[in-house]
This record gives sequence, C-alpha cells and structure tokens, in this order.
Amino acid sequence: VSTNRRFLLARRPQGLPAPEDFELVREPLPTVGPGSFLVRNRYVSLDPAQRIWMDEAPSYMPPIPLGQPVRALAIGVVEQSDNPDFAPGDWVFGQHAIEDYTLVETGEPTRKIDVSIVDRPTRYLSAISLIGFTAYFGLLAHGKPQAGETLLVSGAAGAVGSIVGQIGRIRGCRVIGVAGGAEKVRRLTEDYGFDAAIDYRGKDVEQLAAEIGSAAPHGVDIVFENVGSTPLDAALLKLAMRARIVICGMISDYNRSEKSGARNLFQLVVKRASMEGFIVTDHIARFPEASAQIAHWLGSGELRVDEDVQEGMENTHAAFMRLFSGTNTGKLILRIA
Ligand SMILES: NC(=O)c1ccc[n+]([C@@H]2O[C@H](COP(=O)([O-])OP(=O)(O)OC[C@H]3O[C@@H](n4cnc5c(N)ncnc54)[C@H](OP(=O)(O)O)[C@@H]3O)[C@@H](O)[C@H]2O)c1
Repeated sequence: VSTNRRFLLARRPQGLPAPEDFELVREPLPTVGPGSFLVRNRYVSLDPAQRIWMDEAPSYMPPIPLGQPVRALAIGVVEQSDNPDFAPGDWVFGQHAIEDYTLVETGEPTRKIDVSIVDRPTRYLSAISLIGFTAYFGLLAHGKPQAGETLLVSGAAGAVGSIVGQIGRIRGCRVIGVAGGAEKVRRLTEDYGFDAAIDYRGKDVEQLAAEIGSAAPHGVDIVFENVGSTPLDAALLKLAMRARIVICGMISDYNRSEKSGARNLFQLVVKRASMEGFIVTDHIARFPEASAQIAHWLGSGELRVDEDVQEGMENTHAAFMRLFSGTNTGKLILRIA
C-alpha cells in the first residue's frame, strides 16, 4: 500500500455526529526518520470519549484539531523502523488515530504487546487495556466494594459496564445492571451473571427508582455510573447509608449542548454518600497488576468480555453511531486492515 487513508474531523458535531462532520482522505505514507517507526494500524478502538474530544469544551484531553484524524487507541504491526527497540513484525498498542499508518516518534508511549498470550489481538482493546482497567480501578479503587454489598451499574451491558458487574460478582457483591432493551437485560443475567437487570428505556426517574428499589431492598451501596441523567437520578433515590457513587462517564450528555444535570443530589446529604469521578490513567502505576488479574479471570473463564468488531474505515461513522444507539454488543472495535 502506498497511500495512507485517514479519517479526519472536518467540523465539530452539533448533537449526534453527522457523516459530513468527517472526511476520509488519502495521503502519502509518512517517512521514517531516525528513532521513529511506522505502524500499520489493524484495529482501532471506537469509544464514547472520542465524541467528547470532538467538542471544543474543556476536558481531560485537548480537543481533536479540525482537519486532523480522529484520535483513537489502536493496535497494529510495525512495518518499518529506525528505532532499535521496535522491529518490523512487532505488534504494538498506542494512542494513534483512525488512519492506516501512524508514524511513532522517539519517546511516544506506543508499546509492544504480546499477542501470543491472548486468544486474539483485540483483547488489547477490549479487556487487558484501558477498558478493563477502567472497570477494575473504577470499581475497586473508587467503589471499594465489600462482599455482601449491592452494586448498581448503568450502561451495564456495554464494554466497561459488563466488566464492572462481573468483577463485582467475583468480589461477592449483589449486582444489578441497568441497560437498554430486553435483549441486553437477558444478556446481563444469562451471559454476565448479574443478579438482576432492569431496562431503563421509556421509564422516568420514579419508575426506574421503583424497580431499583425492588431489586435492592436494602438500598444501593455502590453506584457505577456510565450514563448520567435518568439512571443517575433514579439511583440517587435508592442509596444505602454511606453509599459511594463512582462517576465513570455520562454518555447520555455527550451529544447534548444542554447537559442534563442531576436533580436528586440532596440524597448525598441524607445518606452521607460520596460521589467521585476518575480517569483510568490516574492509575497507570498499577496497570500491570490489573492486566495480570484480568488476564487471569479471562483465562479461568470467570470473566466474559464480548467484542463488537465492525469492518472497514469507510464505515467509521456508522460504526461509531452504534455507541449512541446502543446497538453495539460489547466493546466496539473497527477493523481497518
Ligand atoms: N473514566 C474513564 O477513564 C473512562 C474510560 C473509558 C470509558 N469511560 C466511560 O464509560 C462509559 C461506557 O463506555 P464504553 O466504552 O463501555 O461504551 P459502551 O457501554 O460499550 O457503549 C455505550 C453504551 O451506552 C449506552 N448509551 C448510549 N447513549 C445513551 C443515552 N443517551 N442514554 C443512556 N444510555 C446510552 C448504550 O447502551 P444501552 O443500550 O444500554 O443504552 C451503549 O451501548 C462511557 O460513559 C465512557 O465515557 C470512562
């Protein structure tokens, strides 16, 4: 291949991203200079965070510049190298972009991965990397679960949520999942071993709170929040004393300019509860521990991690939209080579 297809952010989306917000271009391959190496990206990760980075609003990472390719975690294979630590054929993981080829300069944090220890390379996007680590540290370091406590997870059938619920189950919690639609509710209990599952679609805060209350008669000790809005407001009405609310994400707000807000925050006072946000990279020093533990659970069959692998860079927009329609069935990944 002599050209580099790149999926550029052409303008900042208003609401749900439109196909016209992006442009697929072909550019010459970058040239490898001293210390750098060229990676052929095979799979890119499609994440809700990319929608946040498409906005100009302040965030934990700078906005994706207009006219630049959409930033993405990727795994791929080194094709050319002038760096003694990387040889052609090495599999690597890094924060690259939705593009065929990424030139990695000396000192950039792309690292080698050992694909021989996993059943497929995409495990480095779905389980033993940031998604798995988000679930692991979000729950264990921030939620601090104790055996016998009740854990409520929103976005429960998704990439992060499904792992959170299973780690909670492994740690002896009673686990309740909130997700969209009957099929996801079925998968939560049958595939992921949740104790109870609730469909939030078409329900208001009071209805959802009533169902959470039935599933958690003693209240919820830990809320793992991926969604915000209705699920969060409903969870706030059913807290146990000294509950911990872990804010992992608020996907229901990502396509809204007017943010939803949480209306029942006074319940933090009533229940002496705490609410805390985190970013997975806060825990970078402990990534090796999480990686080993998750690999162990995967190998023993205690943890199931599903992947939704879509095909082709030309399908990026349609694939990305699966995150916001809820049609993704596991960690959303795009195969581009
Ligand atoms: N803090 C961190 O470091 C960190 C790291 C990674 C991810 N995250 C956050 O974790 C959350 C989950 O990410 P993921 O990668 O695992 O994605 P995911 O859950 O696999 O996919 C997104 C899911 O969100 C639900 N959703 C989408 N729009 C919604 C809406 N308007 N209202 C309610 N639910 C909606 C859909 O499920 P339903 O069909 O159930 O609606 C969809 O399947 C996101 O909030 C993300 O930003 C945080």
